[in-house]
Amino acid sequence: MAVGGGISAGNGKQYEGRVTPFVIVACLVAATGGLIFGYDIGISGGVTSMDEFLEKFFPAVYAKQKNATGHESQYCKFENHMLTLFTSSLYLAALVASFFASATTRKFGRKISMTIGGVVFLFGAILNGAAVNVAMLIIGRILLGVGIGYANQSVPVYLSEMAPPKLRGALNIGFQMATTIGIFAANLVNYGTAQMKENGWRVSLALAAAPALIMTIGAIFLPDTPNSLIERGLKDQAKEMLQKIRGTPNVHDEFSDLMDASAVSQQVRHPWKTILEPKYRPQLIITCLIPLFQQLTGINVIMFYAPVLFKTLGFADDASLMSAVVTGLVNVFATVVSILVVDRFGRRVLFLEGGIQMIACQIGVGVLIGSVFGVSGNGTFSKGLGNLALALICIYVAAFAWSWGPLGWLVPSEIHPMEIRSAGQSINVSVNMFFTFVIGQLFLSMLCHMKFGLFFFFGGWVIIMTVFVYFFVPETRNVPIEEMNRVWKSHWFWGKYIPDDAVGLSNHDA
Ligand code: BGC
Repeated sequence: MAVGGGISAGNGKQYEGRVTPFVIVACLVAATGGLIFGYDIGISGGVTSMDEFLEKFFPAVYAKQKNATGHESQYCKFENHMLTLFTSSLYLAALVASFFASATTRKFGRKISMTIGGVVFLFGAILNGAAVNVAMLIIGRILLGVGIGYANQSVPVYLSEMAPPKLRGALNIGFQMATTIGIFAANLVNYGTAQMKENGWRVSLALAAAPALIMTIGAIFLPDTPNSLIERGLKDQAKEMLQKIRGTPNVHDEFSDLMDASAVSQQVRHPWKTILEPKYRPQLIITCLIPLFQQLTGINVIMFYAPVLFKTLGFADDASLMSAVVTGLVNVFATVVSILVVDRFGRRVLFLEGGIQMIACQIGVGVLIGSVFGVSGNGTFSKGLGNLALALICIYVAAFAWSWGPLGWLVPSEIHPMEIRSAGQSINVSVNMFFTFVIGQLFLSMLCHMKFGLFFFFGGWVIIMTVFVYFFVPETRNVPIEEMNRVWKSHWFWGKYIPDDAVGLSNHDA
């Protein structure tokens, strides 16, 4: 078995039950939580490249851009910290909110957190759409961030808990799927509103209300997960729910595993202190590193700044926004690939293949940009080379979209035992948001200073994370979520952290 392999699917426990339409619909509805996240990722890059928006809120950037007559380095023409703060302030708010979301999710259930997320995001969208000054813009973005913090904390956990083990990957990736649809919708909206004579940016920002409404209304009608009902002492309801989602009255084995997991969980008064105990070290380390690595793939350079990047490569305004639409579409379709294979071939294959594909593209783009702009940043891309760059970027996006994109949310949501699951997921969200913030904030400066070397920088990180996955990330495909300790226990490196009694939770093992 490969070094990182854990127990094989064959050793995984199988519970009775089938995949019911009820569970599929519940997961699809919950996954719409990804829409608000995605819409926001996709909208800000386009809006910050619209002249009217820049002239109104960031006149200094506007003036600099208009005066960039070729004497200035192509690498630096968009560098401005206020502008990047607009994009990235949201992620700081999301980071803080995810900690509050952890307590809400644990005490009141996953569904309440999702509803809160949707409503707060809605207010943020309204404020942004009505903005008349930078303050309204930034406060609006903070509200959007709070909404995202709540949604990203609760939705992946919800999906992992509802899903039957053999479909957990696919259903959980519904979240990432919705994220990519949100990004793509935003790219399209930007393309449309950029043609408007005025207030295009306003329409783009206000339309964030649409995904927020979809998510909020959906969340109101969702059932809570059996795990969460048990966690809150609602045993009978939990059993009924389990029977309903598994489509069989005979849920005895799974239910008693949930009860056992919950009994352990109940003894834990302080999940934040508990997660620091040595026996949770594997989960804690993986939960910190996966979101860090996900951001160090450099994906948000493309997601936030694709239009700016393509403008830098000499594409016209329209063509730049169109190129963002193209990458957005690739992102959606490649996510489908992941849904189809994640429960069949597992998480590790996707991580490793995606990593290698990204490295190749990053080196390609770095060489290409370096050969045209050199270190001075003066030069022009021919149409052919511009298209080649676009193609390489699309292949890179596809690789991310079937590997680190979905797995960055799936794996951390499925590796924690119940007692630390909410806390673990908050760490995942906050590390993710923090590094999204850092990249959002620093990218334009990094491009200005590291020039084409930036692509090698991210490529280097992808090499490191691919090696890390190979050695340290075990396969979690097909393993029931409350049985995950077995995977850690049988791992060549992490095994020593897991006490023997932590794998004996269930009395119903075959
Ligand atoms: C990441 C985002 C990224 C998106 C792109 C998500 O999994 O967390 O930062 O923008 O994928 O599709």
